[in-house]
Amino acid sequence: MLHPDPELRQIRWGVAGPGRAAARFAQGLQAVPAASLSAVWGRTAERAHAYAQRFSVPQVCDSLSQLVAADVDAIYVATHPDTHAEICLQALAAGKHVMCEKPSALNEQQLRRILEAAHRHGRLFMEAMKPPFFPLYRKLREYLQADPIGPVGFVRAGHCDSTLAPDYPLHFAELGGGGVMGIGPYEAFLALDWLGPLRRVQTMGRLSPAGVDAFALFQTEHERGMAQLHTGLDLLSRGDALLCAPRGYVTIHENWWNPVRATVRYIDGRTVELHEPFVAGGFNYETDHFCQLIRGGQLESPEITHALSLGMARLLEAARTALGVRFPGEDT
Ligand SMILES: NC(=O)c1ccc[n+]([C@@H]2O[C@H](COP(=O)([O-])OP(=O)(O)OC[C@H]3O[C@@H](n4cnc5c(N)ncnc54)[C@H](OP(=O)(O)O)[C@@H]3O)[C@@H](O)[C@H]2O)c1
Repeated sequence: MLHPDPELRQIRWGVAGPGRAAARFAQGLQAVPAASLSAVWGRTAERAHAYAQRFSVPQVCDSLSQLVAADVDAIYVATHPDTHAEICLQALAAGKHVMCEKPSALNEQQLRRILEAAHRHGRLFMEAMKPPFFPLYRKLREYLQADPIGPVGFVRAGHCDSTLAPDYPLHFAELGGGGVMGIGPYEAFLALDWLGPLRRVQTMGRLSPAGVDAFALFQTEHERGMAQLHTGLDLLSRGDALLCAPRGYVTIHENWWNPVRATVRYIDGRTVELHEPFVAGGFNYETDHFCQLIRGGQLESPEITHALSLGMARLLEAARTALGVRFPGEDT
């Protein structure tokens, strides 16, 4: 039964793919008001049951069809990118709102099909892109409005992780892996968020024996500036992010995709330190935003717009295809 106060209406979630991201989603959901985890479906039944036990999920579904038919408002898609499109399409067709992990699809074409389905079925779709919802990121935006450095014209960001185990999903082309797909979405977001729509991409890099990018350096040109971005699976760095403007620059300190601390340096010599910790693992902020959009009857996030997700998909596809990375299922 619907709560008489729409602001307090309980949002019931179903989870597809009870892995690492889904565990952080469940942790975050505990800090989201009026939201509950009602059902889970996993390819491997034991893992789905273990997840249900760990996070007190009342219903374990035997199939994706059962999950999308369950008594839930929204589905959180946390499988690998090779299955995002298929699961999102089924969930939307069943009348569920969908929040899908990044990258939202293997390529732009798949994402367009998802967005068309969301539109056709009148359901909310949002890519789970967490940084802009973190308290630090919000604070930084507010701060720069109050004490501006001028328009940001250059963004630099990167992250390489050589500590991932050999069976980690990003090492596999058939799962939609590679550094560009795994780490790149955050960098694509940062560049598009500060510099506007994409104009072109230049890429250098090298492939792993499995055919995914082991290292990629990509430069992007946008309507309002340029970015220099990198990702890697065989080198180690936990970079900060740099935003440069005419009257100052910002460093979002490591790990900038889970932002906690930023330094703003002004042309007049002032330095301002911002510090905003996050709670509950950090997925709670985007999930709360999504729940509020459902309650408000909105079909698109004003923060992670469909156009922004398309821009991210286009940027990632351009960066990896320039290196020769193609995925088995992406043309279907
Ligand atoms: N926002 C963030 O901070 C964040 C962090 C990590 C990951 N992610 C994103 O989350 C997604 C999942 O990554 P992860 O690290 O959580 O992966 P993971 O730990 O390997 O979990 C993936 C889940 O998907 C299931 N799965 C895999 N292939 C499937 C298929 N063909 N059909 C049905 N289910 C399938 C797995 O089932 P099995 O147990 O049977 O293998 C597992 O439950 C990726 O898109 C990744 O980019 C986001």
